[in-house]
Order: sequence, then C-alpha cells, then structure tokens
Amino acid sequence: MTIYRAKDYQDMSRKAANILSAQVILNPASVLGLATGSSPAGVYKQLVEWYKKNDIDFSGVTSINLDEYKGMAPDNLQSYRFFMQEHLFNHVNINPANTFLPDGLAADTDAECTRYDDVIVSRGGIDIQLLGIGHNGHIGFNEPSDTFDTGTHVVPLAQSTIEANKRFFDNEEQVPHHAFTLGIGTIMRARHILLIVSGKAKADIIRTAFNGPVTPLVPASVLQLHSHVTIVGDEDALSKLM
Ligand code: F6R
Repeated sequence: MTIYRAKDYQDMSRKAANILSAQVILNPASVLGLATGSSPAGVYKQLVEWYKKNDIDFSGVTSINLDEYKGMAPDNLQSYRFFMQEHLFNHVNINPANTFLPDGLAADTDAECTRYDDVIVSRGGIDIQLLGIGHNGHIGFNEPSDTFDTGTHVVPLAQSTIEANKRFFDNEEQVPHHAFTLGIGTIMRARHILLIVSGKAKADIIRTAFNGPVTPLVPASVLQLHSHVTIVGDEDALSKLM
C-alpha cells in the first residue's frame, strides 16, 4: 500500500488526478472505475483542466461507475449519471457509448446487475478504481454487513449514509433508500485501487479501516488484502493513520 499525504483537498485532488492521468497516458484504452461525491469532484475538475490544455485524451477510455441510486432517472439532478455528465463527461472527449453506470430505472434489478457485471468483464476488467470512503467504511455502496458481497447488487442504504447524502437533496425524504453498487469482489479485481480521502471527519474511519482488522463490518478494510492500493489523503484525514 502506498500512501501519499496531501496538504489539503486541492493538493489531494491534484495528486490523484496525476495518477489517473498517468494511467491514461500509459494506456489510452484504460478502463477507469469512477466514483461520485465530494471526494472526487476536485479530481474531475483537475482532469477537465488538463484535457482543455491538451494534456490528456479520453477518446479511448472506458468508464465504469461504482454505483447509482435505484429508481433515479439519468436526467435527475441527484442521479450519479447526472453528476458524472456535469463533472466530467460533458467536458472531455470520452465516447458517451463508453461511459457506464447502472441503470437506476431498470425494472428487473437482477438482470441489470448481471448486465453490469458482464459489461465489466467484456471491457477486460477495471484498470484503476477510484474510491471515496463513507464515514461507516463503505466503498461504493457496500455498507457494513456480515459478509462481503461479490458482484453488482442492490443494497438498502445505511441510515448514516442517507444522512450523509441528504446534503445533496432538498430534504432527507428525497434521499433514495436503495442503490445499485459494484460488489466488493469486483472492486477487489480492479488492478489498481486509488482511494482518496479528505477532512478530519474521515480520520477515525481511515484508522479503523487500515489499522484495524479486515472485516465486512468495515467494508474498506478489505483493501488491506489488495496488492496494489494507493491512498491519497489530506493531512486531516490521515492524521490518525499509523
Ligand atoms: C460514490 C460512492 C461512495 C462515496 C462515499 C464518500 O460513488 O461510491 O462510496 O465515495 O460515500 O462520499 P464523499 O466523497 O461525498 O464523502
């Protein structure tokens, strides 16, 4: 595991964007596993800036997002599809046909999970998986549980996740209670994991996940077993990591 200590959120974003950018330069046909939320927003902003300067070319890239709210249309402002369009896809030359998220509106959720897993296999697997981490240790929407889930599945969101995500909605009632997420098995099969984390509020969970035991009660702890993990965190988030 390699840990890069960044000064602050901006420095974290720039360092992580450098790693993703290097991946795309070394392999222009890279499959990027992407995340949404506050943590990666700065990374995408930086990548868009570099794209505009002709420093990075997304034309051969495939993107596979981690998750999507169940029941949410792609043009809903809170959907993860909308987030990705706004923060990255609309601003770079990625082929829209090569951008994948679970279909939040899929009527047959089992079929949608199978379809999504098949997409990942057909693209040759994920080269680098960008991850944020929830306050309860979730990665993707793999919430604390008794077992590690393998493939794409639908999960009920933990109450703490609903509360953390309500900042993006007008009120808590609007936060969906279920989401599609890649499973831990699929995340662990990514060839490189890039976890980004910022802020004092994440310091405890970072210590628990990486200095504590590997347990599905802290889903991110499983990353201790992956052979190629890079953590880029700011000083506050890494302040309790030993
Ligand atoms: C988002 C995702 C989540 C977030 C996590 C942290 O696609 O899969 O696991 O990475 O909830 O969210 P932020 O970055 O908003 O603190």
